Amino acid sequence: MATISKLRVIFFCILVSAAAASAPYGRKPDNRHPCQQLVFYIHDILYNGKNFNNATSAIIGSPEWGNKTVAATPYKFGDLVAFDDPITLDNNLHSPPVGRAQGMYLYDQRSINGALLSFSFLFNSTDHVGTLNFAGADPLFNKTRDISVIGGTGDFFMARGVATLSTDSYEGDVYFRLRAEINLYECW
Ligand SMILES: *[C@@H]1O[C@H](CO)[C@@H](O)[C@H](O)[C@H]1NC(C)=O
Ligand SMILES: *[C@@H]1O[C@H](CO)[C@@H](O)[C@H](O)[C@H]1NC(C)=O
Ligand SMILES: *[C@@H]1O[C@H](CO)[C@@H](O)[C@H](O)[C@H]1NC(C)=O
Ligand SMILES: *[C@@H]1O[C@H](CO)[C@@H](O)[C@H](O)[C@H]1NC(C)=O
Repeated sequence: MATISKLRVIFFCILVSAAAASAPYGRKPDNRHPCQQLVFYIHDILYNGKNFNNATSAIIGSPEWGNKTVAATPYKFGDLVAFDDPITLDNNLHSPPVGRAQGMYLYDQRSINGALLSFSFLFNSTDHVGTLNFAGADPLFNKTRDISVIGGTGDFFMARGVATLSTDSYEGDVYFRLRAEINLYECW
C-alpha cells in the first residue's frame, strides 16, 4: 500500500515537471484556463490623401518632420493614428462586421517598429452586445504580441484577460489586418 502511494507521488512529480518544462518560453506555466475565447479580425485602411471614402483610420498627429498623409521616418515614430475599423469573424474585409474597433495607436519606438495601442471593441450584433477595452505595447516585429484586456461592459461586464495579436495581412502602407485571439480569464 505504502509503495503504491509512493509511486503515485513520484508519478505526480514527473507529470508536474513535464508540464513546467513544456511551458512556452517567457510565459508562466499554464495552470489557468480561459473562461472565454474569441477570435476576430480587425481591418484598417489608412488615409493616404486619396482614399477618404474608403479609409477607416487617419494620422492625426505627426512629428515636425512628417505629415499626415505619409508615415514619418524612421519607423513612423511620432505618428498618432485614430481609427474606426470594422471587425469580422473571418479574414474577409467584406464580411459583415460584428462590431467596430475604435481608438488610437501611437508609434512610440524610434529604433524599431512598435506602437502603443489603446482601443475598444464595440459590439452590437446578435452574438454580443457590449464593449471590451484593450491597452498595451505592440512590438510589430514580433510575430505575436500580447496586449491586456483591461475591462468590459454589457455581455463582457468586468471581463479581463489577454489578447494575442498577429498581423494577418499587410498591403503597402494603406491596409493591414490583425488577427486578435482574446482569452478572458475573468468572466461574470
Ligand atoms: C507629405 O510628405 C510627402 C513625402 O515627404 C510628400 O510627398 C507629400 O507631398 C506631403 N504631403 C503634404 C500634404 O504635405
Ligand atoms: C444596436 O443595434 C440596434 C438594432 O440594430 C440599434 O437599434 C441600436 O441603435 C444599436 N446601438 C448602437 C450603440 O449602435
Ligand atoms: C516578443 O517575442 C519574444 C520571443 O519571440 C518574447 O520573448 C517576448 O515576450 C515578446 N514580446 C512581447 C511584448 O510580446
Ligand atoms: C478600400 O481599400 C481596400 C484596402 O486597400 C481595398 O482592398 C479596396 O479595394 C478599397 N475599396 C475601394 C472602394 O476603393
